Amino acid sequence: MIQSSLQNVDSRRLHVGIIMDGNGRWAQARGWPRVEGHRAGAGAVRRVVEAAPGMGIGVLTLYAFSSDNWRRPSREVETLMRLFRVYLRTETERCIANGVRIDMIGRRDRLSLRLCSAIEAAEAATIGGKTLHMRIAVDYSSREAILRAAARLNGAGEVTREAFSRELGDPNGRAVDVPDVDLLIRTGGEQRLSDFLLWESAYAELIFTKRMWPDFDASDLAGAVDEFYRRERRFGGLTESAKAL
Ligand code: IPE
Ligand code: IPE
Ligand code: MG
Repeated sequence: MIQSSLQNVDSRRLHVGIIMDGNGRWAQARGWPRVEGHRAGAGAVRRVVEAAPGMGIGVLTLYAFSSDNWRRPSREVETLMRLFRVYLRTETERCIANGVRIDMIGRRDRLSLRLCSAIEAAEAATIGGKTLHMRIAVDYSSREAILRAAARLNGAGEVTREAFSRELGDPNGRAVDVPDVDLLIRTGGEQRLSDFLLWESAYAELIFTKRMWPDFDASDLAGAVDEFYRRERRFGGLTESAKAL
């Protein structure tokens, strides 16, 4: 079983997506304002980014802010935007040193100019990173991304799944070849996708954990990757043992 799941991924490293949920509840459980949970969540991002390459992860897509999160109180939204900017400013050097390429997926037209400049600077500075491709989803909606890719391809004649995937993986006009999601993790106990990587996760293995995002660490990630390798991915086909019957 382990053998057959390995065969599907042996030639490349894993694409892991994480819905980083539970920050607010983590803080509230301690009697703190919700934004303290977001602040602590940045630490979990650092831990996961550091640990991921050693676990065979090549692409890490992190859901940081959904397009529906604009519905939250403006104070929380402003704090989150400031935290993204601070994260990019303080982590870019570490990312360069560790070969981590930063990419931001999602809409940019509703972000502040300061945040857009920080994103562009971080992307440009880390573009040579080969150890890990970290994609941060901010103002991201998978359904919107699919609609926009479809609109860009409109009139392109016959569109294959591969061409569509390439278009989706390249939302901001940069050439990036991103494989489908192998493993999708959601922290915080909810069992839903909340408009994250819907096309890309068609055959992803899903892991939902009750761990709140600020508590998530390298051992949780290792546990999820172990669980991934225990699963049998069939992609609609049959295993060798089932074929023999
Ligand atoms: C995830 O944590 C971070 C964002 C959505 C920005 P939440 O803020 O959703 O935390 P909970 O789910 O309310 O605990
Ligand atoms: C999903 O979490 C978005 C992020 C983690 C960034 P939400 O907390 O916004 O999702 P719902 O509202 O519980 O579905
Ligand atoms: Mg939430």
